[in-house]
Amino acid sequence: MRKLWEKIRWIMRGFKRTLLFLSQFWDDRYYTEVDMDRWRSLGAKIGKDVQIQHLKVDERFARLLEIDDEANIAEGTNIVLHDSSLNNLFGEDCPVKFGKVKIGKATYIGRNAIILCGVNIGKYALIGAGALVVTDVPDYGVAMGVPAKVVGDTRELKERQKQQIEEQESSPYRFLRIKRWHERHKIMTNDEVEEVYQAFFKDVGW
Ligand SMILES: CC(C)(COP(=O)(O)OP(=O)(O)OC[C@H]1O[C@@H](n2cnc3c(N)ncnc32)[C@H](O)[C@@H]1OP(=O)(O)O)[C@@H](O)C(=O)NCCC(=O)NCCS
Repeated sequence: MRKLWEKIRWIMRGFKRTLLFLSQFWDDRYYTEVDMDRWRSLGAKIGKDVQIQHLKVDERFARLLEIDDEANIAEGTNIVLHDSSLNNLFGEDCPVKFGKVKIGKATYIGRNAIILCGVNIGKYALIGAGALVVTDVPDYGVAMGVPAKVVGDTRELKERQKQQIEEQESSPYRFLRIKRWHERHKIMTNDEVEEVYQAFFKDVGW
């Protein structure tokens, strides 16, 4: 009886995944959910309104991964849930190491970050692009570099950005106001991208 139920669930899951895959051709909101469905089916705990783009995780240990609501994981992030390096060198004298990775609510992981096992990243934190995260990051922490160091607080960064926006006329940057991912569930529209281009071509001039 249990086997039959598992088979039905397997078919339903396959059906859902096919629908999600096809839906990306008429609605781009789902492109991220195909990945998410996969990590969930492997046992990772993934909250609501999370955005994931092509995450790399050691699949067989996915149950050690926990991502809280509204977190954003940018393209190319690599989460390492175990370390068999010494075991591969010296065998059973050196057992394989495992550790959970937890990513807190609304935290942002920049492109191509690597997060090693045992790391706990708090809520509303920011991990810089290309960071190698080997130690915990507190709530609202800004961590970057290789190995990543906590260098600030996201609330301070927010204040600093206000200044950058005010001074944008004399800077190489332009800013576009859009809602957070969990409110929009869509990647930037073509019109929004065009708005950014216009600002550049008109003001910055290339
Ligand atoms: C971490 C981050 C938010 C910092 O932004 P910021 O404070 O505006 O950064 P600044 O350009 O003012 O640089 C501040 C300092 O941090 C350093 N720095 C910036 N980003 C860094 C990064 N990813 N790794 C290491 N150092 C970094 C700069 O070299 C500079 O150092 P200095 O003070 O010694 O000169 C940003 O650089 C980043 O990595 N964002 C994620 C981008 C991303 O992955 N987007 C995905 C697509 S949405």
